[in-house]
Amino acid sequence: MSGKRIVVGVGGGIAAYKCCSLIRKFTEDGHHVRVIPTESALEFIGRATLEALSGNTVHTGVFEDVPAVPHVRIGQEADLVVIAPATADLLARAAQGRADDLLTATLLTARCPVVFAPAMHTEMWEHPATVANVALLRERGATVIEPASGRLTGRDTGAGRLPEPDEIFGLASLLLERSDALPRDLEGRSVVVSAGGTREPLDPVRFLGNRSSGKQGYAIARLAVQRGATVTLISGITAGLEPPAAVDVVNVQTAEQMREAVDKHATTADAVIMSAAVADFRPTTVATAKIKKGAGEPDIIPLTKNADILAGLVDARRDGRLSKSTAIVGFAAETGDENGDVLTHARAKLARKGCDLLVVNPVGDGKAFEVDNNDGWLLSADGGEVALDHGSKALMASRVLDALTALLDRGPTA
Ligand code: CTP
Repeated sequence: MSGKRIVVGVGGGIAAYKCCSLIRKFTEDGHHVRVIPTESALEFIGRATLEALSGNTVHTGVFEDVPAVPHVRIGQEADLVVIAPATADLLARAAQGRADDLLTATLLTARCPVVFAPAMHTEMWEHPATVANVALLRERGATVIEPASGRLTGRDTGAGRLPEPDEIFGLASLLLERSDALPRDLEGRSVVVSAGGTREPLDPVRFLGNRSSGKQGYAIARLAVQRGATVTLISGITAGLEPPAAVDVVNVQTAEQMREAVDKHATTADAVIMSAAVADFRPTTVATAKIKKGAGEPDIIPLTKNADILAGLVDARRDGRLSKSTAIVGFAAETGDENGDVLTHARAKLARKGCDLLVVNPVGDGKAFEVDNNDGWLLSADGGEVALDHGSKALMASRVLDALTALLDRGPTA
């Protein structure tokens, strides 16, 4: 996915400094980057910085470099336009179709995916004028990223923070892979996603764990919120992943803590996606002091089976403790063996667990764990079977959410 023409638009807000990392990520990924700041963006960040990082000249107005007709050509030739930060003023001008500087003129001529990453104070983000502008831009097909919550300029905190450059880059790159990956089809839905591995303590310093990085579950949570859902991410142990913007994160460690958190949040959810790698067993006793070598050292560590959270959700839905309309999605990391191939095991697991959808990842040979790409199948309780082509975990997440949306629209099979 390298060698694309990317336009990075920069609005006049304090978060403009973060566009430097974003530009760098695109150029390091092999793309051709053209930066177009607004005049006020240059109050926050220097033209020389933007030119040095992108390797291209930087203009703000339509009367510079006139023979090259940049106000038409840059937009026409772009494969993707990303605006970070998009200020309230820039969103308003884009929504109105103004063309009073090079950036807004480019927006009118671009026919490629356009991503706005807003950054502003919470009051401005929540103002009905901004809300209407965002709705209009989305209606016309632009992607307006949900901003993060957190520390804003000065002392205040709230929604309106620019998501981290990594996150903007990930969402923008997904649109290069698949331009229709971020529809607002989960608006009004509430989704619970579990991710990462669990840690089962043995003594104060040791635990049983697994190799799950959490990347796939985090990608699903990140995309679900950008597709309009309210998302609670129940996160076990991950490879140090940053929480996605605008997602409520509940951190847990053990399988039992994960079960409690999932069960609690499932009661108000339209869908639960169990992508966590939950430990099937835990040490039966947890030593209060570190287990030493020598006299009294254990030969065997007795294990106790953990509750199956996914199967528990299906039971709860069957006996009415969970709404019949709650969609339940499971994951299966499988290898083939003498008893059958990956798909045979996966079909048996779908039947055994009783969930609506099962995302199947073949594992082993460096696949699935800790890597950025994935492939597999999506099996549904009604017999459906879709191959998930090799691609980024974000692309995989988008396919899973397509299937979930279809399921929610027709109602789970239970
Ligand atoms: N899962 C769960 N609770 C557990 C174990 C697994 O909810 N205690 C969920 C996982 O989050 C995943 C699905 O069940 O969505 C399948 O997990 P997997 O470990 O592949 O299934 P197991 O039932 O443990 O089957 P296996 O015998 O293959 O280990």
